[in-house]
Amino acid sequence: MSDSQFDQLRKVIYQRAGIHFLDSKKYVLESRLSRRVEELEFENFDQYIMYLTTGPYQMDEFQEMFNRITINETSFFRNEPQLLYFEQQVLPKLIEARQKTKTLRIWSSAASSGEEAYTLAIQLHRSLGIRAMDWKIEILGTDISEKVLLQAQEAKYPHYAVRTLSPMVLQKYFKQEGSFYHLDPSLKTMCRFEKLNLKDRISARRFGTFDVIFCRNVLIYFDDEMRKGVINMFHDQLAKDGTLFIGHSESLRNLNVKFEQIAAPQAFAYTKL
Ligand SMILES: C[S@@+](CC[C@H](N)C(=O)[O-])C[C@H]1O[C@@H](n2cnc3c(N)ncnc32)[C@H](O)[C@@H]1O
Repeated sequence: MSDSQFDQLRKVIYQRAGIHFLDSKKYVLESRLSRRVEELEFENFDQYIMYLTTGPYQMDEFQEMFNRITINETSFFRNEPQLLYFEQQVLPKLIEARQKTKTLRIWSSAASSGEEAYTLAIQLHRSLGIRAMDWKIEILGTDISEKVLLQAQEAKYPHYAVRTLSPMVLQKYFKQEGSFYHLDPSLKTMCRFEKLNLKDRISARRFGTFDVIFCRNVLIYFDDEMRKGVINMFHDQLAKDGTLFIGHSESLRNLNVKFEQIAAPQAFAYTKL
């Protein structure tokens, strides 16, 4: 891949999804898309860029490309101290505040293969116990990659994916079948998964307002302009008393957005100003 091909590709990727490939990540793009160029029997990246940006297969090829270039690393109970803050500090107050409507809506906005959304379902189940039956809980997982969303919808994980779960949680919420662990259907029904590009604020509106939004480990792939757009979208779609959680290596500093950081170490959480 020449520098000019890299520039053209990263420009269209940025325009479509806000994902910003640094100069140092040229090899990542090259290694992930070389096989695709071969599969399509193109002779070079110029032909691939033409195919991607003109003609009848643009939309399908963009999807195929996002399936390949996104980093989907995730795990159950990823960053446990932060999730404990959610479970022990945020959830009890929210349950109290929503006593009348008994409705809770949570958005896992870069859901990958579903581990984050299902972790939240486990935490909600633990917090509400038998009361969960009286509540309408909706955990929405969205992602730009269809490939990972299909995995999320299956709620079936290999041994490696459940390695971070305690034996107690594994036994209580999963059923082992062969070499796979299937999530309990009662938790699975709390969650649904939909495709959403975080750059598409208009599409996001159809999902309505949420009490808690998780946007972890995806802002790092965006530049400030895209981050600001995404965070403003969350501002519009977060309840007045809602909480936004971001990844531990991410920050809203310098974005000039209407959020205030919660003063709790390891929470990486924000409320609306
Ligand atoms: C590293 S994973 C993070 C998963 C999970 N939130 C976690 O922290 O474990 C980042 C996810 O963001 C998704 N993603 C990247 N750009 C996106 C965009 N513009 N819109 C929606 N999802 C995007 C990727 O497909 C990937 O699944």
